[in-house]
Amino acid sequence: MIIHFSLNGRDVERDVRGDERAVDIIREDLGLTGTKEGCGTGECGACAVLMNGRARLSCLTLAAQLDGAALTTIEGLGTPDRPHPLQRAFAEHGAVQCGFCTPGMVVAAADLLARNPDPSRDDIREGLSGNLCRCTGYSRILDAVEKAGR
Ligand code: FES
Ligand code: FES
Repeated sequence: MIIHFSLNGRDVERDVRGDERAVDIIREDLGLTGTKEGCGTGECGACAVLMNGRARLSCLTLAAQLDGAALTTIEGLGTPDRPHPLQRAFAEHGAVQCGFCTPGMVVAAADLLARNPDPSRDDIREGLSGNLCRCTGYSRILDAVEKAGR
């Protein structure tokens, strides 16, 4: 089926199969490899993207469900020259080690801060509860989101 959606502010048209997942379209077809696939089963949060402003797991989203949606991936949040405040805060607080979880963490945090610009530490823990990190021990990630929210 033919679908149309907005990707990082750009109109996209794609012919997708019924069983194709959003993460496949994003990474393999459109080449936006900032979005990561970890588990592929909704457990790790690495594949999170913003769909109509809310964080959504692209491994559990069918490509067909993107039809008519506004999608923002980590590449659309900021650039190396003009990073999103969350991206700057993650870098400044050493909240990135291997970096595999980082795009999903930043996307989940962007969703949280859009709804709650001044979250408590517990709000941040709750907002990022669907995102796993095997490297950082989480405290620097919490520091970064706290800083970006101020
Ligand atoms: S790859 Fe989607 S939740 Fe892990
Ligand atoms: S920085 Fe390595 S998984 Fe989080």
